[in-house]
This record gives sequence, C-alpha cells and structure tokens, in this order.
Amino acid sequence: MADPSKEMVDKYLSSSEIFLAKDQKHIIGILVLKREQNAAEIMNVAVEEKYQGKGIGTQLLQHVIQYSREAGIKQLSIGTADISLDQITLYQKLGFKVNDRIADFFLKNYEKPIYENGKLAKDMIRLEMSLS
Ligand SMILES: CC(C)(COP(=O)(O)OP(=O)(O)OC[C@H]1O[C@@H](n2cnc3c(N)ncnc32)[C@H](O)[C@@H]1OP(=O)(O)O)[C@@H](O)C(=O)NCCC(=O)NCCS
Repeated sequence: MADPSKEMVDKYLSSSEIFLAKDQKHIIGILVLKREQNAAEIMNVAVEEKYQGKGIGTQLLQHVIQYSREAGIKQLSIGTADISLDQITLYQKLGFKVNDRIADFFLKNYEKPIYENGKLAKDMIRLEMSLS
C-alpha cells in the first residue's frame, strides 16, 4: 500500500528492520526502517485500510522515533509523494521537517504511474528529523 513496486520493496526489505502492529491475531500495520550508520530512513509505513484513522500509524511512527533515538540514530528521514498531503501533515505533526524535493522521482523510478485521490505522483518530498 505504501509502495506499489514489489521490485523497489525487494531492494530494501532484506537490509531493513521491520516493525509490526498487531491486533489479537493479525498484522494490521507495518513499518520498514533502513539504517545506515548514524542515520535511518523509514522506507515504508502502512496500516490495513479498515484500521486506518485509529491512531495506529501514529503509534508505529512514535515507537520507531523513540527506538531510533535509543539506538543512537542521529537523523531520521522519510520520503513521500508530493500529492500525499495527509501523510506529509502526519509526519510534520510528529516532528519531521521538509528538507528536499526530488523532481520526477515517481515518474522515473516506477514502471506504472501512481495515482492518489485521482492525482498523479511526480516528485518525492523528503522530510527529516534530527534526534541528537
Ligand atoms: C499513512 C498511514 C500509515 C497512516 O496510518 P493511520 O493509522 O491511518 O494514521 P493515524 O490514524 O495515526 O492518523 C494520523 C493522522 O494522519 C491523517 N492521515 C494520514 N494519512 C492518511 C490517509 N492516507 N488517509 C486518511 N488520513 C490520513 C489522519 O487524518 C490523522 O490526522 P489527525 O491526527 O489530525 O486525526 C495509513 O493511512 C496508510 O497505510 N495509508 C496507505 C499507505 C501510505 O500512504 N503509506 C505512507 C506512504 S509515505
């Protein structure tokens, strides 16, 4: 749900840490964190559709921010599409700040166009949080 390209997910999954949100029986949310020395990037965060809007994504992100701080990570980043305004607002509320825009990232790196709410994803917005 957060990354429609299996090829892209396969590239980072084996070298990442994976955090799960579970109800009694099922996995209902995931977050993938890729660490590189003193920095880390949240590569993927998704909550199963019927559980969205209940605070689970916020909890996953807050947990990983705290985990990263305790693990000595100094800089945490996350990237999302220019059209994902709700997600950008969520990340900003948690303390991330927009620090870069990569023009045409989604047009150049994905075979198929990505649409959200009828809008085409073009640029990647990168947000960062300093944990030091
Ligand atoms: C983005 C996502 C992980 C957020 O998880 P969640 O459990 O729905 O988030 P929360 O319930 O903690 O909501 C937090 C806030 O974000 C807003 N929000 C963020 N993304 C949203 C979305 N796609 N749809 C609706 N609301 C969203 C909520 O309105 C809420 O705002 P509020 O605190 O002012 O009420 C989840 O919506 C999702 O899986 N979306 C599809 C995959 C995706 O876009 N992943 C991110 C790729 S960068």
